[in-house]
Amino acid sequence: MKQFITIDDFEDVNFAIKETLNLKNNYLNNKKYYKNTNRTLGMIFFNPSLRTRLSTQKAAHNIGLKTMIMNFSNEAWALEFENGTKMSGLRSEHIKEAAAVISEYCDMLAIRAFASLNNKEKDESEVVIKSFLKYSKIPIINMESATAHPLQALADAITIIENKSKKRPKVLLTWAPHPKALPQAVPNSFVKIMKHMDVELSITQPKEFELNPIITKDIKLYHNQSEAFKDVDFVYAKNWSSYKNYGHISKGNDDWIINKEKMNLTNDAKFMHCLPIRRNIVASDEVLDNKNSLVIKQAENRIYSAQYVIEKLLKNE
Ligand code: CP
Repeated sequence: MKQFITIDDFEDVNFAIKETLNLKNNYLNNKKYYKNTNRTLGMIFFNPSLRTRLSTQKAAHNIGLKTMIMNFSNEAWALEFENGTKMSGLRSEHIKEAAAVISEYCDMLAIRAFASLNNKEKDESEVVIKSFLKYSKIPIINMESATAHPLQALADAITIIENKSKKRPKVLLTWAPHPKALPQAVPNSFVKIMKHMDVELSITQPKEFELNPIITKDIKLYHNQSEAFKDVDFVYAKNWSSYKNYGHISKGNDDWIINKEKMNLTNDAKFMHCLPIRRNIVASDEVLDNKNSLVIKQAENRIYSAQYVIEKLLKNE
C-alpha cells in the first residue's frame, strides 16, 4: 500500500480488519513498535478535529514517529490549486511548492479537507487530497476528505466485530437530524467497509436524503425509520446532506432523532456514531448514556486504525 485515500486502497479489506484487531491486542508487548524515531508524520488540517487529530498523533507516537501538525485553515499561507494562474489574489502559495516543501520535512503526510457541499463535481474530484498526491514525494493518508473517511470506517468495523454476539449481525445506518449541512464522507466509507463484512446492512433515511447511489447499490433502503429499526443488532446514526440536491438539508425531520423508544424496537442493539454528536438532536441523552452506546469505544479504536495504516505505509518505504 503506497497511500491510504479510501477503503479501496486495502488489497484485502477483511485482512486489514483482522490485522488491526491483532495490532490492538498485541501492540504493547511488541518491541518492534518503537524503532521509527527518525520518521516524521506530517498532519495538516483544513477543518477542525478532536478524535482524528489526537488518535492519529497517538498512533504515530505508539510506533515511535514524531509528528508535525499544522492548521492550514488559519496558520498556513492560503493555497492555490489551479495551474497557470496569475496569483494576484488572496492565495499566496501554490500547492506545487507547499507539497514539495512538506515532503522535505516529513516521511508521510495525513490530510483533512472536508467537502465544500456547494459544488458536487469539485468535491468529488477531491482537489485537495489529489493535488497533494500529485505534488508530494511521500505517502498520503486521508483523515477525512470530501467523499471518504476510511480511518473512521476501519475503526467502526473493528468495533462491530468486538461487540457482535452473532456471526452475521444486522447493521442499520440511520440518517439523523442536524442543524447544519454535513458531508457524506462518513456514511460513504461506512457503507463501503460494511459491504466487505459478514453483516446484513440496511439504510434508513427520509426520501430526500439519499447517498451516492453507486455506493449504496444493492443495499436495502427504508424510508420508514421505525420499520427499519426492528430486530437490528447495531444502529449507526449519522446526519448527511442530500447527494442529489447537493448539500441541501431541509427542516422538518426532527422526529428522526434516535431515542429510547426506537432503540426498544431493536434486538437490544448497540448504538454507534463517529462523534462529535449533538445531544438531543441526533440522539437522546438516554441513548448516549446507555450501556449499549459504543461511541467511546469507536473513538478509542481510531488509534488502532491509524496505527495499522501508518505501519502499512512504513513497511512499503
Ligand atoms: N470522528 C471524527 O473524525 O472526529 P473528529 O472530527 O473530531 O476528528
